[in-house]
Amino acid sequence: MMTELVVFGQDEMKHYLRLFAEAIKLGLRFNLLIEGPPGTAKTLAVNQMIASLKADIGNVPYVRVTGSHDALPCDLIGDLDIGKYREGEMDILSGPLFRAHGSSIPGIVYADELNRFSEYTLIIFTEIMAEWQVSFPKTPLTKPLRANVIATMNPYDISGITDVPQHILDRFNARIVVNYPDKETELRIIAQHADYYYKNLAPRLKKLHSPLISTTRAMRKLGVHLGPRIYLSTLDLLALELSSNGPVNHETVIWHYENAIRSRIGNLDEDKQSEFLSTASIALRGELTGQKR
Ligand SMILES: Nc1ncnc2c1ncn2[C@@H]1O[C@H](COP(=O)(O)OP(=O)(O)OP(=O)(O)O)[C@@H](O)[C@H]1O
Ligand SMILES: [Mg+2]
Repeated sequence: MMTELVVFGQDEMKHYLRLFAEAIKLGLRFNLLIEGPPGTAKTLAVNQMIASLKADIGNVPYVRVTGSHDALPCDLIGDLDIGKYREGEMDILSGPLFRAHGSSIPGIVYADELNRFSEYTLIIFTEIMAEWQVSFPKTPLTKPLRANVIATMNPYDISGITDVPQHILDRFNARIVVNYPDKETELRIIAQHADYYYKNLAPRLKKLHSPLISTTRAMRKLGVHLGPRIYLSTLDLLALELSSNGPVNHETVIWHYENAIRSRIGNLDEDKQSEFLSTASIALRGELTGQKR
């Protein structure tokens, strides 16, 4: 079996995740918000915390939901059971969130991309966080939902995000802000990725790590949020080239890097996109040729 990926750095986030796990074990109410740019290991670290909690205390009721502007409260909590209602009974057909309900210890609701939920749907989380229960809109019914909430969000997302209102932020015990790692850590991230996913090809790509990371770090200074996924995707493309006996020269590196970046800049108008891409390719070419000297 493959060994697990390691999250390098991000010590504050890892520390608070340990406290979150501890709160579950103690049966305490504890809600955590983790905020940061794309690809800073938020999801990876949360998944690892949950896996180690499960290894530690056995099964923990757990549900992951991903924010979407189209999601309605009933998509998360369920709705009135119409069949029973016709027979004169009022009951609820429970939605997916109730799978996180814990009886001996609280379960976990992991709300990924929290700020993609509409304000209307976000309200659901306040009652869970504050009271471990859910009230069903337009009915007198409530149901217990004993679960702690861990939410992640990327406030720099390109589109479709909500400004999470203060009264919802208030319900979190802590709001952790993560940021891009330093250069040395980024070099470890790319090296780990290469060894983990394509060990045999990794040595042949090693000389590209530093140019890809230096360029990405320089481009971030222009205010565009380029996370580790940019250079990891580029490396993947180049590994695929090697594996299929394709060319891996400066031109292909720059070509794949530009296309990896293109996925992050859809919010810029077209002129700005081409300007940004040509700046990136000039910077990367400089890094690649500079290395030879
Ligand atoms: N500090 C780190 N240590 C190890 N790997 C990392 C680190 N940061 C990023 N990575 C790599 O980048 C990938 C992307 O991370 P992840 O999906 O967890 O980001 P995220 O913060 O959830 O991003 P988003 O806001 O876009 O959802 C990870 O799976 C991992 O391969
Ligand atoms: Mg994520």
